[in-house]
Amino acid sequence: MSLQPCTAAATSTATAFASEARAGLTRSGQKSLPPRYFYDALGSTLFEAITQLPEYGLSRAERRLFQAHAAQLAELAPAASVIELGSGSAAKTALLLRALLRQRTVSYCAIDVSAAALEMTRQELAGLPGLHVRTVESEYLTGLDTAMQARIAHGSTLVLLLGSSLGNLDFGASVRFLRHVRGALHPGDHLLLGADLIKPEAQLLAAYDDAQGVTAAFNLNLLARMNRELGCDFRLTQFRHRVRFNRDTQDVEMHLESLIDQSVHFADFAIAFRAGETIHTESSHKYSLTELDRLAGNCSFRSAARWVDAEGQFASYLGVAV
Ligand code: AVI
Repeated sequence: MSLQPCTAAATSTATAFASEARAGLTRSGQKSLPPRYFYDALGSTLFEAITQLPEYGLSRAERRLFQAHAAQLAELAPAASVIELGSGSAAKTALLLRALLRQRTVSYCAIDVSAAALEMTRQELAGLPGLHVRTVESEYLTGLDTAMQARIAHGSTLVLLLGSSLGNLDFGASVRFLRHVRGALHPGDHLLLGADLIKPEAQLLAAYDDAQGVTAAFNLNLLARMNRELGCDFRLTQFRHRVRFNRDTQDVEMHLESLIDQSVHFADFAIAFRAGETIHTESSHKYSLTELDRLAGNCSFRSAARWVDAEGQFASYLGVAV
């Protein structure tokens, strides 16, 4: 049974979830589930917990970069409208907005697929003087197109894609994504893009398989969500969280591995799993600085600034639309 309110939006999300999950679990070869369905209320809360883990340093690295460089960023990109794709708790965003608000009032639009994440955003930013906050529950690009229509006409726009969100797309999808963002912007508008950098494999594996099991719970929640919302009967104790580093693609991959031969019911059919077989649930790409610059350049952004944290773990790239 779904605990979501029975609205048209909730119904269409459930329909899309059912058909994408069905396609991913019944295709021949590697089974998969789309990572965007991690973020129901519980998944969004677990993701916020992940960002606090000692092993997952990227959120803290990005925060340190904003603490050090927000004022410079506000000078380089003095935007009247800020649109954030995937806002989550918006704790780091507040650092940027405070710097922009020293110059002028700002209209801020948060876009997220998760209603729970948008609620965290509203709470975090409530009461920032001079900030007008709007939230849109939607896929990023559809939401961006809507938000661009409502932007402040007399002033530039800054789009934020923070954390390592771009890394959850494969190469082709990340190019299409950035080109769409560029197409929505006007020359002189800016994009601030976060990118987790290549680092030793052991460190990457620990970041996605933490000692407290929070990332495992985040991954397994995808099956729990299918039980709650799609009426499946996954036995969570018969699957386990698995992490691999793919050296060819420089991706950390998350999987859910079946511990036994079993079948799981999904609507009117059964899906068979062999012991050891996995469902691929997420890839998280790790960038080199050269790759990041080239990717943004290929999508018609010119580098206005790029900040890298002291340990070389994480980069914030500020591009201007040309
Ligand atoms: C949201 N995204 C950038 C996170 C990442 O690092 O790829 C999701 C995540 N998955 C496991 N831990 C965090």
